[in-house]
Amino acid sequence: MKNWSKRKKILLGLMVLFIAVQAIQPSKNQGSPTGPTDITAAMQVPDSVMTVLKKSCYDCHSNHTTYPWYDNITPVNWWVNHHINEGKRELNFSTFAEYNQRRKAKKLDESAEQIEKGEMPLKSYLLMHGDAKLSEAQQKMLINWFKSAKSGSAGSQATVNEEKEHD
Ligand code: HEC
Repeated sequence: MKNWSKRKKILLGLMVLFIAVQAIQPSKNQGSPTGPTDITAAMQVPDSVMTVLKKSCYDCHSNHTTYPWYDNITPVNWWVNHHINEGKRELNFSTFAEYNQRRKAKKLDESAEQIEKGEMPLKSYLLMHGDAKLSEAQQKMLINWFKSAKSGSAGSQATVNEEKEHD
C-alpha cells in the first residue's frame, strides 16, 4: 500500500526524534536535603515526622530528589522538573531555617491545610509513588505536628496574615 510506507517513515521519524530529544535534560535537583539551613535547624522535628516528610514531601520540597529511571526520559523529566521547581519555590524544607518567622508560620499552616484537604502529596505523583501516600494515621500525625510547630514558631500572639503577594 502506498500509505503504509509513508506511515512507516513517519514512525521512523518520530523514533529518531524521540531518541534525539533524550539529549535535552533539565538540571537535576541533587543537592543535600539536610544541612545548617534545613528545618531541623529551626525547630525540633520528631523522627517519626521526619521519616514521613522525607518519604512523602522531600522529592518536591527539598534540595534533593530521588529520581526513578523513568524520570530521566524526555519529556517526563521536564514535567517532573517543573513540579520540583514550583514545589521548592513554595516550600523548601532544606532552606526552611532561613525563612523569617512569619513565613515559617505561614508554611507550617499551609502544610497542615494541604494535607487536610488531601492536596499534598500531588495526586499525579502518587500514581507512580504509592509508598508516598499518607495513611490516615500519618495524615493526623503530620497535621498535629504542623499545627503545634506553628504555634511554637509564631508565638502565642503572632498572627499569620493571609497575603495576596507571593511570599
Ligand atoms: C510531586 C511533587 C510534590 C510532592 C511530593 C509534594 N508537593 Fe507540595 N507542592 C508541589 C507543587 C508543584 C506545589 C505548588 C503548586 C500547588 O500548590 O499545587 C506545592 C505546594 C505546596 C504548598 C503550598 C501550597 C499553598 O497553599 O500555596 C505546601 C504547603 C506543600 N506543597 C506542602 C507539601 C507537603 C507537606 C507535602 C508532603 C506531605 C508535599 N507538599 C508533597 C509539589 C509537591
